[in-house]
Amino acid sequence: MTSITKKADDENGARAPYREAVTTLVPYNAGLGVEEIRRLYAPPRIAKLGSNENPYGPSPRVRAALADAASLEHYPDPNCRDLREDIARSLGVAPDRLIFGNGSEDILAFACRCFINPGDEVVLSSPTFSVYRDNAIVMGATIIDVPRKADLSLDAAATIAALTARTKLLFLCNPNNPTGNAIPAAEFEAICAAAHADTVIVADEAYYEYARGGDYPESIPMLDRMGKRYLALRTFSKAYGLAGLRVGYGVASESAFARHLDLVRTAFNVNRLAQIAARAAWSDQAAVAKTVSATLAERDRVARALTAMGHEPAPSRANFLFFDAKRPAAAMAQALLRQGVIVKPWGGDFATWLRVSIGHAEDNDQFLAAFENAARATATSDTTA
Ligand SMILES: Cc1ncc(COP(=O)(O)O)c(C=O)c1O
Repeated sequence: MTSITKKADDENGARAPYREAVTTLVPYNAGLGVEEIRRLYAPPRIAKLGSNENPYGPSPRVRAALADAASLEHYPDPNCRDLREDIARSLGVAPDRLIFGNGSEDILAFACRCFINPGDEVVLSSPTFSVYRDNAIVMGATIIDVPRKADLSLDAAATIAALTARTKLLFLCNPNNPTGNAIPAAEFEAICAAAHADTVIVADEAYYEYARGGDYPESIPMLDRMGKRYLALRTFSKAYGLAGLRVGYGVASESAFARHLDLVRTAFNVNRLAQIAARAAWSDQAAVAKTVSATLAERDRVARALTAMGHEPAPSRANFLFFDAKRPAAAMAQALLRQGVIVKPWGGDFATWLRVSIGHAEDNDQFLAAFENAARATATSDTTA
């Protein structure tokens, strides 16, 4: 994909008004929506597996709470007080250490605004969530991109070697999107221990609920114990099934961080319905546990099926799989779209890789059948070419 504009001047000779960093960005690839696929290909059934959403949706308590929502003519609580109390109580942290966003990507954006001065170094490891790089670049950061290991897991030693006193933000996407692998607790601790006192560790845990347990780090108590500066980010978009309402939250190492982050966000960034829905979803942890266990069982089934077809995915602790289709990813994604299956094709060094989210069993079966068809069709056209 290319950036929207490199054009310096308009037809009247006026200089393009954009900051140079903005002209280097490429549009976020949100993929095609269900309506568009229906219009283009009219498939009998659509499996929407391109955005790591939760096909089970939120707890039934959410709909009941939304039906009772009142005061829609008034702005929402800018401090998400009730939701803040609920989450702080469950996590055992002071309420004033919490930050809320219109999705956790909102928090990522205003965290970059809050912390990055031009020339600051930001450490990340591609392929990862593109929002880190885009927002850091807009703020004038220098990106230090640490290569991953052959199995696409984070290279802890290389990450530690990349950390300096100039590192302002260290993005640890855990589990990582798109690769799915998680950083084990011991490595997470070693990396964070090596972070300079001036570095803010951003632990992006959008898929926390799918990954927790075993050797997955409990970052909040761990980093508190270590006395590190950090921001742990989570979301209601994934296991809580509320991607459409946009609520993310973060826990900061200190309340002063939260106060400063609040200065650079818009006041009413989490709308009234989103706050009500998030409280109802949070209150029903049994629904989250049910969703997670169904998703993990399906994920392992899809991983086994892909492996049997010769496309073993990277080890995933999240609700998606990343695998080498061994054919141009964009063409494969297009062939899947024609069969009603939406996945996300990668590019750059991963131009033959696809990311597929885990849906209902029927969605996953539709994906596996469509992938097999598409792979067979390209193999046939390869041999006849
Ligand atoms: C790693 C990661 N972080 C953050 C987000 C943003 O989630 P949201 O803005 O919906 O909370 C996503 C969404 O896909 C993600 O994959």
